[in-house]
Amino acid sequence: GSAEALEADVVVVGAGPAGLMAARTLQAAGQSVIVLEARDRVGGRTWSKEIDGAFLEIGGQWVSPDQTELLGLLEELGMGTFSRYREGANIYLDREGERHEYTGDMFPAHERTVAEMERIIGILDELAASIGPAEPWAHPKARELDTVTFNEWLREQTEDAAARENIAIFLAGGMLTKPDHAFSALQAVLMAASAGSFSNLVDEDFILDRRVIGGMQSVSETIASRLHEGSVHLETPVRTISWNDDGGATVFSDRVTVRAQQVILAVPPNLYSRISFEPALPRLQHQMHQHQSMGLVIKVHAVYATPFWRDKGLSGTGFGPNEICQEVYDNTNHEDTRGTLVAFISDEKADEMFALPEQDRREAIVRSLAAYLGEEALTPEVYYESDFGSEEWTRGAYAASFDLGGLSRYGAHQRRAVGPLHWACSDLAAEGYQHVDGALRQGRRAAQDIVHRLAEHTPDHMEVNHG
Ligand code: FDA
Repeated sequence: GSAEALEADVVVVGAGPAGLMAARTLQAAGQSVIVLEARDRVGGRTWSKEIDGAFLEIGGQWVSPDQTELLGLLEELGMGTFSRYREGANIYLDREGERHEYTGDMFPAHERTVAEMERIIGILDELAASIGPAEPWAHPKARELDTVTFNEWLREQTEDAAARENIAIFLAGGMLTKPDHAFSALQAVLMAASAGSFSNLVDEDFILDRRVIGGMQSVSETIASRLHEGSVHLETPVRTISWNDDGGATVFSDRVTVRAQQVILAVPPNLYSRISFEPALPRLQHQMHQHQSMGLVIKVHAVYATPFWRDKGLSGTGFGPNEICQEVYDNTNHEDTRGTLVAFISDEKADEMFALPEQDRREAIVRSLAAYLGEEALTPEVYYESDFGSEEWTRGAYAASFDLGGLSRYGAHQRRAVGPLHWACSDLAAEGYQHVDGALRQGRRAAQDIVHRLAEHTPDHMEVNHG
């Protein structure tokens, strides 16, 4: 009833990287902007926190060389990066649970398996190059690839189960965080194309290259701090948007009501339906949004007195397609004497882990870490599980993807504005899809669409008068 009434050219819903980049771009173009954020902090799926005295990046953190939008912004903001530790041997736990130390970028699997993997990587690289990230739905092969699961597609490529699992780990558990039977081959190709190639995704030295000094959330905090004072309203979940097809909207939240010409929804698509739209969104949006869902992953943080694995000549990097922790990396902070490991547990394995009581889950997980790096891993000083699946304003991790057939059926519409409503988040991105880089690109793109639109709507009778 008594919400404060405000006015702005544009309202941005969500203060994650996409929403904040949109606000930054709009303010630079002279538009007035109000950002409404549900949480008590900015950054969305990027979040740094001190847990039991350890600095942890609970959400998104890595930067790769193809992510030029993010890298450019970091430079603009004067923020530094540091490299992930990667000296020494990696560990591969094979299908039988046998432990192999290796260097180089290929798992020490059987020669035949490695040859099959290289062949399939080549096929995926070609598909990624020819289909590209921008409009995968428009490619002549789109429907064919979008109506077969990635699992089935891999079965068509090779009879080598180890090769299939080793390829799937990068796209299923490693990226989309859904089982490989739950998304299409086209969705897999988009994921690869959005990172430049499938080879890039397979190469952890590329994809997990650098981190931001001070943490990825500080990118959002820095953008927010440079917006006009009072632009960002925290703890302000948007509940209702009433809109006109030919422009104008009123955005209702618990604290403020904002009247604006345009609105950017910078929230992931699985959350659009948490907002009531008056009038209802068109049928196409209702349908499309029900085919986009979040993956699920537990990001595990384990902090030790020292990075003990380094003394054994190990990088801390490990892969095991059948392990509880499919991926493990050295995640030691910049200039920290303690050693931090990060591990990921995806999709059905995450379900299994969450079904266990907390203490049993922790034991199972540190035992998996120890299978890679030794007994010392069993007793971390600090242990924490990131659980975005439980968060009201995210509900999964890392990001959303279409179900089988959804990308070719609806993809062309996902970034199209509906009246004054614009959509921007990493989940809709082409380059940088599912990543902070893609969130920034989509935020900037939506802002630029609005700047163009508002310029068109500027009455040109002024010019007429001049004449
Ligand atoms: P994001 O979800 O970040 O922001 C949306 C905002 O909208 C949130 O702040 C939310 O609270 C708010 N909101 C939602 N509903 C609302 C409502 N009704 N009213 C008001 N506000 C509302 N990326 C990467 O580049 N490198 C990496 O290493 C990783 N790793 C990684 C790990 C984990 C555990 C996660 C969860 C994610 C990653 N990611 C990542 C992904 C990356 O974090 C993600 O793609 C971006 O944060 C997405 O930014 P957006 O702004 O699009 O959405």
